[in-house]
Amino acid sequence: IQELAGELKLSLKKFPNFPSEGILFEDFLPIFANPDLFAKLLEAFKLHLKDVKVDYIVGLESRGFLFGPALALQLNAGFIPVRKPGKLPGPTLSASFQKEYGSDVFEIQEGVIPEGSTVIIVDDILATGGSASAAGELVTKAGGKILEYLFVMELDFLKGRDKLSAPVFTLLSGQPEKLK
Ligand code: PRP
Ligand code: MG
Repeated sequence: IQELAGELKLSLKKFPNFPSEGILFEDFLPIFANPDLFAKLLEAFKLHLKDVKVDYIVGLESRGFLFGPALALQLNAGFIPVRKPGKLPGPTLSASFQKEYGSDVFEIQEGVIPEGSTVIIVDDILATGGSASAAGELVTKAGGKILEYLFVMELDFLKGRDKLSAPVFTLLSGQPEKLK
């Protein structure tokens, strides 16, 4: 898994001062443009999860949708989206969370998670943890049991993990650093 992670890390494209001054953004989109790398990303997550029975992967809009469904298929699990407000039909559960400027809301459809199902919540990046913790709240309210939060990258200086109530796994460590 370390070997796979090392190779994947080399493919990240760095953008200084994005999305704001002083941040070095590491873009993971090149992984999806290359089927060998995409397969390696899925393989690494699959190896990490080899000993757990996952019923559902819950992916967060938007970038958690890039690999959540593919990972779910690999694990023979279902995929359930958590979306921005007003996008999902029928009754929904919602949770609001803080963003850098103002707040945002996430929603999940009611009744999509059978009581007691095991869930892994996936997204591209863990930053402040606001998005992931709101998603966690929704999954718990919906009746799911969160096994883990899983990310490709993490801005560890923001300490987002401290907001999360289940174990956190980040594949590519030593991530997007803050520029001096
Ligand atoms: C980004 C990123 C994570 C979230 C992390 O999404 O994709 O979902 O921020 O931040 P947090 O830990 O501080 O909540 P963004 O809201 O920019 O939307 P997108 O995925 O639709 O691009
Ligand atoms: Mg996002």
